[in-house]
Amino acid sequence: MKIVHISAECYPAAKAGGLADVVGALPKYQNLLGNKASVIMPHYYTKFRTENQFEAIHTSFARLGYFDYTFHVFKLLNNNLGFDIFSIDIPGLFDRDKIYSYGDDTERFITFQIAALNWIKNLEIIPDIIHCHDQHTGFIPFMLANVWEYRKLKKVPTVFTIHNGAYQGQFGFNLLHYLPPFHSDLTGLIEWHRAINPLAAAIKCAYKVTTVSPSYMDEIGYSMNGLEGLLNAERSKSMGILNGIDVDVWNPETDSMLEKNYNEKTVETGKAENKKWLCKEFNLDPSKPLFTFIGRLVGEKGADFLPEAVYKLLTQYPKQQNILILGTGEKHIEQALWDLEPQFKGNYCSYIGYNEKLSHLIYAGADFLLMPSRVEPCGLNQLYALRYGTIPIVRRTGGLKDTVVDIGDDGFGICHDQCTAWDITYSMERAKILYKDKTAFKNIRKQIMQIDHSWTKASSDYIELYKSL
Ligand code: ADP
Ligand code: GLC
Repeated sequence: MKIVHISAECYPAAKAGGLADVVGALPKYQNLLGNKASVIMPHYYTKFRTENQFEAIHTSFARLGYFDYTFHVFKLLNNNLGFDIFSIDIPGLFDRDKIYSYGDDTERFITFQIAALNWIKNLEIIPDIIHCHDQHTGFIPFMLANVWEYRKLKKVPTVFTIHNGAYQGQFGFNLLHYLPPFHSDLTGLIEWHRAINPLAAAIKCAYKVTTVSPSYMDEIGYSMNGLEGLLNAERSKSMGILNGIDVDVWNPETDSMLEKNYNEKTVETGKAENKKWLCKEFNLDPSKPLFTFIGRLVGEKGADFLPEAVYKLLTQYPKQQNILILGTGEKHIEQALWDLEPQFKGNYCSYIGYNEKLSHLIYAGADFLLMPSRVEPCGLNQLYALRYGTIPIVRRTGGLKDTVVDIGDDGFGICHDQCTAWDITYSMERAKILYKDKTAFKNIRKQIMQIDHSWTKASSDYIELYKSL
C-alpha cells in the first residue's frame, strides 16, 4: 500500500512534541510490514536542514488568496530513517527556524496543504491512503473531496488523527478566499460555531478519524473545546489507537545520548551511573530519590501545579528527595520554577529550555517521572520512562489511564485522579515509600522495562483500518 503521511512535525527533522515522535516512527513500522509509507512536511530552516542533504524534485506554485507562492519539494537524501521524507520549501512562509507560534501560522499551514496537494496530484502513482495529522493538515480531507482542482485525487481515502483536540486553528470567514474555490453550498463542511475550523473540517470530511488512545476518544466526547457534539455525531467512523514508541531510538541498551547504557539485567548499575551524572550536573543528592518532569510547561500538562508541589514537598520534607524539571512553555510557570532554586539548592533544579539529549539522560537517570496532566491524548513520556526503568507517576487521564496501572492494583506505577498540588505531593510520598522497599522497587524497574509498547501492534492496526477503506 502506498501511504502518505502529512504533518507539521516529524522527528528528527522538526520536533516540538510527541506529534514528531509519532510521525517519525509510524511510517517506518508500516514499511516493515511491506508498505511504502512516506512523510510530507514543511521544510523549516532548522539545524536539520543545514546538516542534511536534500534533492530538489519539484517546483510549482501554491495560490493563497490572491497571491502565488513558489514552492519547492525536497527529498531527504542519505536517509536511514526507514521511510522517505519530502519537505516542502515555501520561501516567505517557512524559511524560519521555529515550527509554530508566528502571527501568520494560518497562512503558512493553508499554503503548505495546498502545495502538498498540488504536488501529489502531479505524481505518476497517486497514494492509496493519505493520513493527516492534527489541525495543520485539517483541510486536506475537505479539499480532496470537494475542490475541482484535486478531482484526480477525489477517491483517495483519508484518515485523520487527532493528536491534540485543544488546538483547532479556527479563523474568521473574512479569510475564506485563502482556500481554493469550491461550491458555496459546501461551506458548512469547514464551519464550526460561525468560524472556519480546520479540525472540525477534518472530523467531518475524513473517511476515518482516530485519536491516539482509546480513553482520549471517550473523553473528547464530553470535553474538546466546543467540538464535543461534532465528535459524538461522527463517533461511528472514529476510533482510538494507542500510540507506540520507536524502540530503536528509545533503547537504553544502545542510546548514544546516555552516560551509561544498560538493559534489564544491568538496570541498577546503569541507572545509578546516569543518575550520578545528572546529580553532579544539577547539584542534587544521588543518595535520595530523584523525581523528574519533562515537557511543555502548560496547563494541559498540569505544569502550573509544579511550583506549588515542589515548594510544599521540599519545605515539609527537606533533603529527603530531589526534583529536576526540564521544560519550556508559559513564562509565569518558567519564572515560578526558577524562583524556587535559591531556596532549595542541592535538592531542586529546573532547566528551562528544550534539550533532546538531556531528556534521554533524565529518562535514564531518574527514579520517578511526574505527569500530572489535566489532558493527555496519549503521552509518550510515560512510555519512554517505562522502557528506561523509571516509574511513572501520572494523573489518570487519556493515554496515561490506558498505559499505567497503580501499584495498589498489582501494577507498576503511581496514579492519582485529581490534578492538584496536593495529589502530586501525596503521590510522591507514596513513591518514597516504594523507593525504601528496595526489593519491590528493583522488581518493578525490571518489570516495566519489559513492557512492549513498540509500534508493531499499532502500526498493523492502522494498516487494517486503511484496508477497510
Ligand atoms: P506532547 O506532544 O503533548 O508535548 P508527548 O508526551 O506526546 O507530549 O511527547 C513529548 C515529547 O517531547 C517527548 O519526546 C519528550 O521527551 C519531548 N520533550 C518535551 N519537552 C521537552 C524538552 N523541554 N526538552 C526535550 N524534550 C522534550
Ligand atoms: C499530542 C498529545 C500527546 C500525544 C502526542 C502524540 O501532542 O498532547 O498526548 O502523545 O500528541 O500523539
